[in-house]
Order: sequence, then C-alpha cells, then structure tokens
Amino acid sequence: MERRTIGAAALGVGAVGLGCMPMSWAYSGSQRRGDRSLRTVHAALDAGANLLDTADMYGPFTNELLLGRVLKERRADAFVSTKCGLLVGDGHVVANGRPGYVRRACDASLRRLQTDVIDLYQLHRADPEVPVEETWGAMADLVRAGKVRALGLCAVGARSTRRGAPDGGYEGTIRQLERIQQVFPVSAVEAELSVWSQEALVRLLPWCEARGVGFLAAMPLGSGYLTGTLTPGGGFEADDPRARHPRFTAEMMAANQPLVAGLRRVAARHGEDVTPAQVALAWVLSRGPHVIPIPGAKRERWAVENARAAGLALDGADLAEIAALPAPRGSWD
Ligand SMILES: NC(=O)c1ccc[n+]([C@@H]2O[C@H](COP(=O)([O-])OP(=O)(O)OC[C@H]3O[C@@H](n4cnc5c(N)ncnc54)[C@H](OP(=O)(O)O)[C@@H]3O)[C@@H](O)[C@H]2O)c1
Repeated sequence: MERRTIGAAALGVGAVGLGCMPMSWAYSGSQRRGDRSLRTVHAALDAGANLLDTADMYGPFTNELLLGRVLKERRADAFVSTKCGLLVGDGHVVANGRPGYVRRACDASLRRLQTDVIDLYQLHRADPEVPVEETWGAMADLVRAGKVRALGLCAVGARSTRRGAPDGGYEGTIRQLERIQQVFPVSAVEAELSVWSQEALVRLLPWCEARGVGFLAAMPLGSGYLTGTLTPGGGFEADDPRARHPRFTAEMMAANQPLVAGLRRVAARHGEDVTPAQVALAWVLSRGPHVIPIPGAKRERWAVENARAAGLALDGADLAEIAALPAPRGSWD
C-alpha cells in the first residue's frame, strides 16, 4: 500500500487506516463480535492498513483491550492512534483535560493496548474548564517520557458549531491549534471528511497542509451511507445513533441517493469489482498527500475492500463528476 507521513516526525503509515470504533462503540451493539473484530484488525494489517484508530472511551475501554490482543503479537506491524480526554458515565460524555488525569489515562491506555509506546496520542476534546495549553503540556511530557511518539487533536466536535459558517465552522479549532503549537508540535488533526461532509476543506485541511500536519479523515464513508449498502427505510436498531439522526431518516436517505448513484457511476468506470465505498475513500485520499482516511469497519471483508481503495486513482473526469453531485439533504447535527 502507498505510504503517507504524519507530522514533522514523518511517521510513515499506510494511506488508508482502520477506524476501530464500530467494533466497540456507536452504531448497533448487536452487531459487535470480538472474534470477528480481531480477524478484521489482522486483515487490515495484512493489507497494509496499519493505522489503527481507537480511543479509551470506545467501549469504554474495550476497544483498546481488543487492540491489545492484536498488538501483543504484531506491534511492529501497527501504528496505533488512541485518544484521551473524554469520559463516559451515566450515558453522558464529559471532558477531562486535567494534567494528572492525562498522565493516568496514558498509563492505562498503554496497559490495555499491551504496548510500551503509543504512536499517536490525541486529545479527544478540549476541556472547557482547563486551558488547552495545560492539557497539551501534559501530553508533551508523555512524549518526553517516551510513552508517546507524537500528538494529535480531534476536531470532530466542530460539527455542532459549523452549520452555515463560511469558514467551515473550524475557526475555534484552528485557534486552539495555534495555541497548542506554541507548546509542542501538532503532528495530526482528526476530523470528519467525506464526500457528503466537506467543511474541513475550507480552512482546517489547508491549515494542516501548510504546516506539515497529517489529517486523519474520520467518518470518510458518511457513517456507511456512501457505501450504498444501507437501505432507505431499512431502519436502525434503537441503540444506533443513526436511528435518531436527521440525515438517516428514510426520507433523507432516499433524497440523498443521487450521491450514491454518482459514486456508483464513477466506480463502474474503474471496473466491475470497484465499489462506491472505494470511490468515496479515493476521493478523500485525493484531497492531499497528508490525508489518511480511517474508515470504520467491523467486518473483515470491508476492511480489505477499503484498504484496496489506496490503489484507486481518480482522474479529472471522476473528480469533476463527484464535485457536481448535489449537496446532501438533511441536517448533519
Ligand atoms: N475523533 C472523533 O471524535 C471521531 C468521531 C467519529 C469517528 N472517529 C473515527 O473515525 C472512524 C471512522 O468513522 P465511522 O466508523 O464512524 O464512520 P465511517 O467510516 O464513515 O463508516 C463506518 C460504517 O461503514 C460501514 N462500512 C465500512 N466499510 C464498508 C464497505 N466497504 N462497504 C459497506 N459498508 C462499509 C461499517 O460497517 P460495519 O461496522 O458493520 O463493518 C460502518 O458501519 C471511526 O472508527 C473512529 O476511529 C473519530
């Protein structure tokens, strides 16, 4: 697989990674199976998709424990990205950016992951009660202590503030990034980016590109919609957040079918076995050499299919066709 680099430290990773969240968190719990997830992680590594993206809160904790079982055997094959700063309790998620907590969280992640170093340690969300420089300073100390190789910041929370904003809604994140860069280099930013969620292209992605910061594209498949495998009106299980998501109502899923149809047309031009999911990922890859999509998958089959997207090059006609697709319908909040 093509390699891409993350941050000033030029850490090499496969161009397509693996989002491990669906194995333990979000979407429907009834579909999660540890044995299948283990096979999926191994298959991704075999295919060169070595960036494994997790977080202590996925589960909580069980996603890191799962990855620990793989890393114990195959540490050299993997690039592990995990996150701290969000705690799950009583159905609520709260931020904690206090330095003492960050230190304890890192040690606990190292134990669960069965490794002595985390390749990329990300701040999941800044704590409004703690100056972000303080949290970041504690994370920088973890690099100095050899427990972490590089630092990243997640910006997915910008979703709720960006609606209609001309700057894509990431201005607050960029201000945070400017502040923490004074404390210790940012190697990666993780934020949502897909054919139907392009706000990061306005300011956030160029900010990263100009500074040699890697960009981990979360939800590159539009939470599965862009793969064309979800049926409008098919319904989601009650514990799946898409059951209450305005863009996943039967009406909006039907209204957005032209997006999937466009991806399908492009896929067909590249061969019978090319899928809309692969085109969606190839589009994300085409946004810049510093962009690494991290598609989530529980199934081995999807992980292998997604890894193969690294070899799919879209041409000018493909990109023009995707650019001309209608804007998605339905609020993304
Ligand atoms: N930093 C943050 O705050 C944040 C927020 C959200 C996500 N993330 C990260 O980003 C990763 C990706 O986001 P995501 O998992 O929410 O959304 P996604 O990658 O857009 O979509 C994942 C969904 O698509 C399905 N899928 C994957 N490949 C497929 C294929 N080739 N064909 C058909 N269906 C396919 C998966 O099904 P199965 O699971 O059933 O296999 C899963 O339900 C996460 O895993 C997580 O690591 C980070």
